Amino acid sequence: MSVQPTRPQPLPVGEYADAQGRLRADRVRADFPILNREVHGRPLVYLDSAASAQQPRAVLDAVEHYGATTHANVHRGVHALSQEATAAFEAARDTVRGYVNARSTREIIFTRGTTEAINLVAQSWGGTHLQAGDEVLITHLEHHANIVPWQMACARAGARLLAAPLTPTGEVDLAAFTRLLGPHTRLVAIAHVSNALGTVLPVAELVALAHARGVPVLVDGAQAIAHQRVDVQQLGCDFYAFSGHKIYGPTGVGVLYGRESLLAAMPPWQGGGDMILSVAIERSTYNELPWKFEAGTPNIAGAIGLAAALDYVAMLGRERVAAHEQVLLAEATARLRDVPGLTLVGTAAEKCGVVSFTLAGIHPHDVGTILDREGVAIRSGHHCAMPVMTWYGLAATVRASFGCYNTRADIDRLLAGIDKVREVFA
Ligand code: ALA
Repeated sequence: MSVQPTRPQPLPVGEYADAQGRLRADRVRADFPILNREVHGRPLVYLDSAASAQQPRAVLDAVEHYGATTHANVHRGVHALSQEATAAFEAARDTVRGYVNARSTREIIFTRGTTEAINLVAQSWGGTHLQAGDEVLITHLEHHANIVPWQMACARAGARLLAAPLTPTGEVDLAAFTRLLGPHTRLVAIAHVSNALGTVLPVAELVALAHARGVPVLVDGAQAIAHQRVDVQQLGCDFYAFSGHKIYGPTGVGVLYGRESLLAAMPPWQGGGDMILSVAIERSTYNELPWKFEAGTPNIAGAIGLAAALDYVAMLGRERVAAHEQVLLAEATARLRDVPGLTLVGTAAEKCGVVSFTLAGIHPHDVGTILDREGVAIRSGHHCAMPVMTWYGLAATVRASFGCYNTRADIDRLLAGIDKVREVFA
């Protein structure tokens, strides 16, 4: 028996676009079963996609179909299921390659997520390239996942971690970044989009500055991948990390893109099955790319689900989704500005669909709790980016983040919820 396609056929694009070519978010919503549920007796408004996006039926079906028809271990068996699972897993890799426009599937490593992808580079590349006196340059708006692995790598090597400062609106201070890029800089590690502020960083420009000094650049793309076109060749970066669950895929799967010449020269970071060519008690030899970095049985179903998610977003149209989210961002920003006592945190000229704010005299967790009672899911806290909170002298903010399924009605509910919060605390 030959394997059935694990991914459903794409639906006609017209179904998802209105006459002006704009995304029909009401139609998109129908693909996300979870959006039908109620929370505290109110229809759910999900404004926490920056923490984890919901999964469309196409992803749920792809994972279920794989488990029901195809599952076996990959790269190991001569039997039909193993061969089919391997083919589906490697096809998923090629879908990822196409999505980010990598040159080859040798440049696409499956990981558990963005965090593991960055740790892989910090341990493997960092372990062989960083020495005492070297510097790694990050920015003050990084997520902890793009700070702590570098602190650890620097501590091991006796290197220093430097962070470029921010402007009051939440942009990276380019003049300061350029000054910090010095003769000792060995690597630059930057977010593509700030999870706490929504700022889009000028990655191509920062890469050009670093490359002019021969410094490679890692990009944490967790918050960008679902919200704008990501083309690693256009960005020019050397590493790009992202997670499946931020782009409507499953949790527990992510990707490290790496420039082949760099990956080829890096040692494996975890040992075990799949990453070897031969093992003797005295020594082992290692597999070729990309498997050299994939020790142990991979998250096969996760990779297949991730590929289905990428196909889904590609079907909606990445530019169409981005334009839709920009409309929501502009409307939410304008309306939040009018709320008495509300301060927006992060007002960069270029942003993705994230609004972070504080309400005078009200703790963000109280805001989050009352909004939850209204059926509105937002995130409150430091957003795993404590240095950016410290930078603005805050302990926490309230953050609403948008995805392809959000509508203007969701913004109405958010604003009504904030009115309720202000009433309670009046
Ligand atoms: N990084 C995720 C967030 O921003 C968890 O919420």
